[in-house]
Amino acid sequence: MAPRGQGDRLRKQDHRFCISALQIKGRKGPRRMRELDELYHIRALASSDLSDMRELTQAVGWAVVPWRLKLYQNIGHTLGALRGDKLVATIVAFRLGPTDVAVGQLIVHPSVQRQGLGRRLLQTVLDHYPDDNLHLIATQQGFPLYSHMGFISIGEVWRMEQGVDAESGRESTKPFEDAPTTSTCGGMEPALPQPFQVLRQELVPRLSDLDRNYTGFCRTALFECLVERGKAYVISRGKGPNWHSAALAVMERGAIRLGPLFAPAQEDAATLLQDAVECAKREGLPMRLDVYAQHDLLHKTAYQLGFQVKMQSPLMTLRRGSHSSPCNMFFCFDPATT
Ligand SMILES: CC(C)(COP(=O)(O)OP(=O)(O)OC[C@H]1O[C@@H](n2cnc3c(N)ncnc32)[C@H](O)[C@@H]1OP(=O)(O)O)[C@@H](O)C(=O)NCCC(=O)NCCS
Repeated sequence: MAPRGQGDRLRKQDHRFCISALQIKGRKGPRRMRELDELYHIRALASSDLSDMRELTQAVGWAVVPWRLKLYQNIGHTLGALRGDKLVATIVAFRLGPTDVAVGQLIVHPSVQRQGLGRRLLQTVLDHYPDDNLHLIATQQGFPLYSHMGFISIGEVWRMEQGVDAESGRESTKPFEDAPTTSTCGGMEPALPQPFQVLRQELVPRLSDLDRNYTGFCRTALFECLVERGKAYVISRGKGPNWHSAALAVMERGAIRLGPLFAPAQEDAATLLQDAVECAKREGLPMRLDVYAQHDLLHKTAYQLGFQVKMQSPLMTLRRGSHSSPCNMFFCFDPATT
């Protein structure tokens, strides 16, 4: 509870805030932007902001994956809008490749939604990457905003799950914790057994080659961050070091999160998926992945392996640069988030 006196002060501030918010809401265009900029301070977020980011993420009912928030800070831009010292909105953007950027974690606190803050943050990102294609996975709530900003839907992503125990509330009971791992990853023995192997620095060039060849993206920085974190795994196919297919896996909220998966064709992606699921089932671990709607062979395989579709979300792109459509990405790595 706020100490005596402080509560009044807060209420007064809230009152002032509501009036300015209402005034802003009725306005459009540059004037609205200017007023928002007077009311909110937009700045890059640092690790000291992580607990505020968690709180905000929770305020919109999203599960919090703390290491992902740190990851975004390391590989891209994490921006926040602050009212005084209170974080009320965030957005994340990071490079997928020379001409492509992923956007995610656009969150506006429910108490200040529909004032233009989401649009303001997105505009800041668009201005920062003026010549790039931007990609994201939209929520139902985000869809109208992105459409207004020129993003078009280029397909659908299906979040599929296998073995997640809905009744035990496995993912929702401990939203602030990293998934428990059964060993000291990055150290002695992997938490995921063969055919998974711990992602080590010397494997990064192989992954980056596959990424470049099959998707046109270059996510070396992301892979290197995952190496540093020490809890990422790779499953691959091919002779010795000559992989023709591979997928990343991380333990997240009690399940294996598989993706991105690099493969020359759906058949190869399906075979790798089968290998991964076999191992997960042996270990009694649930699995999640995001499959593009157009990859019907992969759906079929996933259904046969016991996956169910939990969520269907539009994949949206704002195309400005030359290249690239993420059509050859079999499971994306959570451009929106994650
Ligand atoms: C989606 C979200 C970020 C939008 O933020 P916001 O600050 O409320 O959005 P804005 O006020 O900038 O809206 C800009 C425009 O988008 C459209 N829009 C935004 N929210 C909308 C809604 N719920 N319904 C219909 N249109 C909406 C409107 O056209 C709006 O302009 P207008 O108010 O002048 O009509 C916010 O609702 C949110 O945090 N939701 C929960 C998390 C989430 O789903 N994030 C999106 C991830 S993809």
